[in-house]
Amino acid sequence: MFQESFEELRRKASACTLCPLSGTRARAVFGEGPENAPVMLVGEAPGATEDRTGSPFTGRSGKLLTALLDGEGLPREKIFITNMVKCRPPENRLPAKGELAACRPFLAAQVARLRPRLLLSVGNVPTRDFLSSREGITTLRGRFHTCLWQGIPLTVRPLFHPSYLLRNRSFAEGTPGHQTVRDIREILRFLMEAIPGF
Ligand code: URA
Repeated sequence: MFQESFEELRRKASACTLCPLSGTRARAVFGEGPENAPVMLVGEAPGATEDRTGSPFTGRSGKLLTALLDGEGLPREKIFITNMVKCRPPENRLPAKGELAACRPFLAAQVARLRPRLLLSVGNVPTRDFLSSREGITTLRGRFHTCLWQGIPLTVRPLFHPSYLLRNRSFAEGTPGHQTVRDIREILRFLMEAIPGF
Protein backbone atom coordinates (compact mmCIF):
# COMPACT_ATOMS: atom_id res chain seq x y z
CA MET A 1 0.00 0.00 0.00
CA PHE A 2 1.22 3.56 -0.71
CA GLN A 3 2.29 5.52 2.40
CA GLU A 4 2.25 9.06 0.97
CA SER A 5 0.08 12.03 1.97
CA PHE A 6 -3.11 12.71 -0.04
CA GLU A 7 -1.33 15.51 -1.92
CA GLU A 8 1.52 13.20 -2.93
CA LEU A 9 -0.93 10.45 -3.82
CA ARG A 10 -2.94 12.86 -5.95
CA ARG A 11 0.21 13.78 -7.87
CA LYS A 12 1.16 10.13 -8.21
CA ALA A 13 -2.32 9.23 -9.57
CA SER A 14 -2.12 12.03 -12.16
CA ALA A 15 1.16 10.63 -13.45
CA CYS A 16 0.22 6.94 -13.06
CA THR A 17 0.70 4.61 -16.04
CA LEU A 18 0.06 1.32 -14.22
CA CYS A 19 -2.91 0.36 -16.44
CA PRO A 20 -4.11 1.10 -19.99
CA LEU A 21 -6.71 3.64 -18.76
CA SER A 22 -3.86 6.12 -18.36
CA GLY A 23 -3.53 6.14 -22.15
CA THR A 24 -7.05 7.41 -22.76
CA ARG A 25 -7.78 9.65 -19.73
CA ALA A 26 -7.81 13.43 -19.89
CA ARG A 27 -7.42 13.69 -16.10
CA ALA A 28 -7.10 11.27 -13.24
CA VAL A 29 -9.96 11.76 -10.75
CA PHE A 30 -8.33 11.19 -7.40
CA GLY A 31 -11.28 12.23 -5.21
CA GLU A 32 -12.45 15.21 -3.22
CA GLY A 33 -13.74 16.10 0.21
CA PRO A 34 -12.39 16.59 3.70
CA GLU A 35 -9.34 14.45 4.38
CA ASN A 36 -10.70 13.76 7.86
CA ALA A 37 -14.26 13.00 6.69
CA PRO A 38 -15.95 10.37 8.84
CA VAL A 39 -17.82 9.11 5.79
CA MET A 40 -16.40 8.05 2.46
CA LEU A 41 -18.30 7.35 -0.76
CA VAL A 42 -16.81 5.08 -3.40
CA GLY A 43 -18.25 4.80 -6.91
CA GLU A 44 -17.21 2.70 -9.88
CA ALA A 45 -15.16 4.89 -12.20
CA PRO A 46 -15.10 8.43 -13.58
CA GLY A 47 -17.31 9.14 -16.60
CA ALA A 48 -16.89 11.68 -19.39
CA THR A 49 -17.70 14.74 -17.27
CA GLU A 50 -15.45 13.63 -14.42
CA ASP A 51 -12.62 12.96 -16.91
CA ARG A 52 -12.97 16.59 -18.01
CA THR A 53 -13.51 18.25 -14.61
CA GLY A 54 -11.21 16.05 -12.53
CA SER A 55 -13.94 15.83 -9.82
CA PRO A 56 -15.93 12.69 -9.00
CA PHE A 57 -19.69 12.51 -9.53
CA THR A 58 -20.08 15.79 -11.42
CA GLY A 59 -21.98 14.47 -14.47
CA ARG A 60 -25.70 13.67 -14.73
CA SER A 61 -25.65 10.80 -12.27
CA GLY A 62 -23.42 12.76 -9.92
CA LYS A 63 -25.85 15.65 -9.93
CA LEU A 64 -28.69 13.29 -9.01
CA LEU A 65 -26.62 11.73 -6.22
CA THR A 66 -25.67 15.18 -4.89
CA ALA A 67 -29.32 16.30 -4.97
CA LEU A 68 -30.48 13.18 -3.11
CA LEU A 69 -27.81 13.55 -0.42
CA ASP A 70 -28.43 17.30 -0.04
CA GLY A 71 -32.18 16.78 0.00
CA GLU A 72 -31.91 14.46 2.99
CA GLY A 73 -29.52 16.75 4.90
CA LEU A 74 -26.26 14.98 4.08
CA PRO A 75 -24.29 17.53 2.00
CA ARG A 76 -21.59 16.06 -0.24
CA GLU A 77 -19.08 18.54 1.26
CA LYS A 78 -19.08 16.38 4.41
CA ILE A 79 -18.07 13.26 2.47
CA PHE A 80 -14.79 12.20 0.89
CA ILE A 81 -15.84 11.01 -2.58
CA THR A 82 -13.80 8.81 -4.88
CA ASN A 83 -14.03 5.79 -7.18
CA MET A 84 -12.60 2.28 -7.45
CA VAL A 85 -10.47 3.41 -10.37
CA LYS A 86 -9.19 6.94 -10.85
CA CYS A 87 -9.29 7.05 -14.67
CA ARG A 88 -12.22 6.83 -17.05
CA PRO A 89 -12.75 3.51 -18.84
CA PRO A 90 -13.45 4.14 -22.55
CA GLU A 91 -17.17 4.20 -23.51
CA ASN A 92 -17.95 4.29 -19.76
CA ARG A 93 -17.63 0.50 -19.55
CA LEU A 94 -17.11 -1.05 -16.12
CA PRO A 95 -13.50 -1.19 -14.95
CA ALA A 96 -11.78 -4.49 -15.79
CA LYS A 97 -10.26 -6.77 -13.15
CA GLY A 98 -6.69 -5.76 -14.01
CA GLU A 99 -7.60 -2.06 -13.85
CA LEU A 100 -9.21 -2.53 -10.44
CA ALA A 101 -6.11 -4.36 -9.23
CA ALA A 102 -3.73 -1.72 -10.60
CA CYS A 103 -5.66 1.11 -8.91
CA ARG A 104 -6.31 -0.68 -5.60
CA PRO A 105 -3.18 0.68 -3.85
CA PHE A 106 -4.53 4.24 -4.31
CA LEU A 107 -7.91 3.34 -2.87
CA ALA A 108 -6.37 1.30 -0.06
CA ALA A 109 -4.15 4.25 0.89
CA GLN A 110 -7.16 6.59 0.88
CA VAL A 111 -9.22 4.24 3.04
CA ALA A 112 -6.31 3.58 5.41
CA ARG A 113 -5.69 7.31 5.88
CA LEU A 114 -9.33 8.27 6.31
CA ARG A 115 -10.38 5.25 8.39
CA PRO A 116 -14.00 6.29 7.74
CA ARG A 117 -16.64 5.52 10.34
CA LEU A 118 -18.89 4.60 7.41
CA LEU A 119 -18.18 3.77 3.78
CA LEU A 120 -20.90 4.13 1.14
CA SER A 121 -20.37 1.77 -1.80
CA VAL A 122 -22.22 3.01 -4.86
CA GLY A 123 -23.21 0.35 -7.37
CA ASN A 124 -22.19 -3.25 -7.89
CA VAL A 125 -18.47 -2.90 -8.48
CA PRO A 126 -17.41 -1.32 -5.15
CA THR A 127 -20.08 -3.18 -3.18
CA ARG A 128 -18.86 -6.59 -4.35
CA ASP A 129 -15.24 -5.62 -3.84
CA PHE A 130 -15.59 -4.28 -0.29
CA LEU A 131 -17.92 -7.06 0.82
CA SER A 132 -16.07 -9.84 -1.07
CA SER A 133 -19.44 -10.93 -2.36
CA ARG A 134 -20.82 -12.08 -5.68
CA GLU A 135 -24.32 -10.94 -4.74
CA GLY A 136 -25.82 -7.95 -6.52
CA ILE A 137 -26.63 -4.55 -5.11
CA THR A 138 -30.36 -5.37 -4.93
CA THR A 139 -29.60 -8.10 -2.39
CA LEU A 140 -26.86 -6.27 -0.49
CA ARG A 141 -28.39 -2.79 -0.11
CA GLY A 142 -30.77 -1.86 2.70
CA ARG A 143 -28.49 -2.71 5.61
CA PHE A 144 -25.11 -2.00 7.20
CA HIS A 145 -22.36 -4.59 6.71
CA THR A 146 -19.13 -4.98 8.63
CA CYS A 147 -16.13 -6.37 6.80
CA LEU A 148 -12.36 -6.48 6.66
CA TRP A 149 -11.09 -4.99 3.40
CA GLN A 150 -7.34 -5.00 2.67
CA GLY A 151 -6.90 -5.59 6.42
CA ILE A 152 -8.99 -2.51 7.32
CA PRO A 153 -12.17 -3.00 9.39
CA LEU A 154 -15.08 -1.17 7.75
CA THR A 155 -18.78 -0.56 8.11
CA VAL A 156 -20.22 -0.47 4.59
CA ARG A 157 -23.62 0.68 3.40
CA PRO A 158 -24.33 -0.10 -0.28
CA LEU A 159 -26.39 2.28 -2.41
CA PHE A 160 -27.90 1.89 -5.87
CA HIS A 161 -25.81 3.63 -8.50
CA PRO A 162 -27.43 6.95 -9.51
CA SER A 163 -27.13 6.00 -13.21
CA TYR A 164 -29.54 3.13 -12.40
CA LEU A 165 -31.88 5.63 -10.75
CA LEU A 166 -31.71 7.83 -13.87
CA ARG A 167 -33.00 4.85 -15.86
CA ASN A 168 -35.73 4.13 -13.25
CA ARG A 169 -36.94 7.60 -12.48
CA SER A 170 -39.92 6.90 -10.22
CA PHE A 171 -39.67 7.64 -6.50
CA ALA A 172 -42.95 5.87 -5.73
CA GLU A 173 -43.11 3.44 -2.79
CA GLY A 174 -41.02 0.31 -3.45
CA THR A 175 -38.98 1.73 -6.35
CA PRO A 176 -35.15 1.92 -6.27
CA GLY A 177 -35.46 5.72 -5.95
CA HIS A 178 -37.69 5.41 -2.88
CA GLN A 179 -35.41 2.76 -1.38
CA THR A 180 -32.39 5.02 -1.92
CA VAL A 181 -34.05 7.91 -0.08
CA ARG A 182 -34.77 5.52 2.81
CA ASP A 183 -31.15 4.30 2.71
CA ILE A 184 -29.83 7.88 2.91
CA ARG A 185 -32.12 8.64 5.87
CA GLU A 186 -30.78 5.57 7.70
CA ILE A 187 -27.20 6.59 6.83
CA LEU A 188 -27.76 10.07 8.28
CA ARG A 189 -29.29 8.60 11.44
CA PHE A 190 -26.32 6.23 11.78
CA LEU A 191 -23.82 9.10 11.41
CA MET A 192 -25.66 11.34 13.86
CA GLU A 193 -25.70 8.57 16.44
CA ALA A 194 -22.09 7.48 15.85
CA ILE A 195 -20.43 10.90 15.58
CA PRO A 196 -21.19 13.62 18.16
CA GLY A 197 -21.94 16.91 16.39
CA PHE A 198 -22.26 15.41 12.90
N1 URA B 1 -20.11 7.21 -11.84
C1 URA B 1 -19.25 6.79 -10.90
O1 URA B 1 -19.30 5.65 -10.45
N2 URA B 1 -18.35 7.66 -10.47
C2 URA B 1 -18.27 8.91 -10.90
O2 URA B 1 -17.41 9.66 -10.44
C3 URA B 1 -19.18 9.31 -11.88
C4 URA B 1 -20.09 8.45 -12.34
